[in-house]
Amino acid sequence: MDLREEIKRLKKDKNAIILAHYYQRPEIQDIADYVGDSLGLAQKAAETEADIIVFAGVHFMGETAKILNPSKTVILPDLEAGCSLAESCPPEAFSEFVKTHPNNTVITYVNCSAEVKALTDIVCTSSNALKIVESIPKDQPIIFAPDRNLGQYLINKTGRDMLLWDGSCVVHEAFSIEKLIKLHKAYPDYKIIAHPESETHILKTASYIGSTAGMINYVKTHPNEKFIVATEAGILHKMQQEMPQTELIPAPAKDDNTCACSECSFMKLNTMQKLYDCLLNESPQIDVAQDIREKALIPIQRMLELS
Ligand code: 13P
Ligand code: SF4
Repeated sequence: MDLREEIKRLKKDKNAIILAHYYQRPEIQDIADYVGDSLGLAQKAAETEADIIVFAGVHFMGETAKILNPSKTVILPDLEAGCSLAESCPPEAFSEFVKTHPNNTVITYVNCSAEVKALTDIVCTSSNALKIVESIPKDQPIIFAPDRNLGQYLINKTGRDMLLWDGSCVVHEAFSIEKLIKLHKAYPDYKIIAHPESETHILKTASYIGSTAGMINYVKTHPNEKFIVATEAGILHKMQQEMPQTELIPAPAKDDNTCACSECSFMKLNTMQKLYDCLLNESPQIDVAQDIREKALIPIQRMLELS
């Protein structure tokens, strides 16, 4: 069976749309109707007229799409595709934390569960986090969750004293500063670009810091440069498609794994076979309880309005 052709046929028959994140496997990115960063994917999910949204990404992304489209069917190729950042912020513990700081505005990074979003004042992604923080009056205290690295980056950028939740992304914390410095010494004419989920010492080496879409755009607008790319290695597929002549090296991970880079095992759970199966069976579906959905929708809509 030609999986590619069968997926295309099912997609047309069922009026489905495939939304994929830049960290998905190359063959999934290539068959998607839209490939983007977390913000772009949420915006696409908000405006689609398809009956079925196939989310080739991780669970919290599918949840966001479902919160925005309660009457649509939202399916995820593998329901086990979670996120270490979302897992690092259990709703019960977060609820207690919020209760102990009742005067703080709660900003959460979109990489969290629907339950945590329901406890939030405004959601952000890595591409609009700075704008969202700066939209809050300067004298207003803020809780920022769940990513301590993105939170620290925002504190350094804005000078705001935010209370940070102690969560992190395993993929972005896997980069080795020693190996990165060694690599840069061997390739001194390469510029380092990094995702703000990376640790502060990695970000200090970067010429550009931004979301996945921001990083791709930076490479596109600097055609005469070469880059060491500090984010999940799946991004190199789209970067190289957009800029075939540009020389790119993935930033090295601490562990000597097969790709010598950093890959998100959650994102890579999705395969073409699972994509086909989920479209065929319209399962597994993402569901969000109505009370949680209604509360979580408000901070997501605030973010979309501000973006
Ligand atoms: P962005 O796509 O918003 O840059 O986020 C990266 C990420 O880790 C998604 O899980
Ligand atoms: Fe979560 Fe990190 Fe994977 Fe993104 S790359 S889905 S933040 S674990």
